[in-house]
Amino acid sequence: MLDIGCGAGVPIARTLAERFCVTGVDISGEMVSRAMVNVPGATFILGDIMSVEFPPCHFDAVVAYYTIFHIPREEHPELIRRIYAWLKPGGYLQATLTRISEAPYTEDDFFGVTMYWSNYGLKDYERILEEAGFTILVSTVIGHGYRESDAIPSERHPFILARKD
Ligand SMILES: C[S@@+](CC[C@H](N)C(=O)[O-])C[C@H]1O[C@@H](n2cnc3c(N)ncnc32)[C@H](O)[C@@H]1O
Repeated sequence: MLDIGCGAGVPIARTLAERFCVTGVDISGEMVSRAMVNVPGATFILGDIMSVEFPPCHFDAVVAYYTIFHIPREEHPELIRRIYAWLKPGGYLQATLTRISEAPYTEDDFFGVTMYWSNYGLKDYERILEEAGFTILVSTVIGHGYRESDAIPSERHPFILARKD
């Protein structure tokens, strides 16, 4: 499985690595260093997901949790096409998306660093996925963050499961 924007590898890559062979990609050297320590059983690559190379039909599944909206939105259709190419036929994409379209913006102090967002709305992503060849199996909403299941989430995000047919 490929984990796009794997961050420090917790909880996603670590949870997946309990059952699957996991490759994580992140553009931050600090995140990749932490992920290597946190999830020694997985493979981590330092790189931009828009320029890393994988063979066609290589992964059974790709996940992207809270990552796509940090990449310039005009690149999102190309990212979805890249993911489609990397998946084996019948492979799955699971991703958090965004409900509304927002022009690129930055927040100066997001937990101490400048953070960038850029995203389309859910209907746009559903069209982009279908144009790339995906079948959307589930389109739902999840609470942001990885808290206890009974904690009230501070925000919610669309969450899709799609299959390469
Ligand atoms: C909000 S964090 C989410 C981390 C992890 N997926 C999670 O759910 O905890 C977004 C991550 O995406 C990474 N990222 C942003 N742009 C990227 C890009 N173009 N290629 C690869 N990783 C990227 C960031 O460095 C960051 O670690």
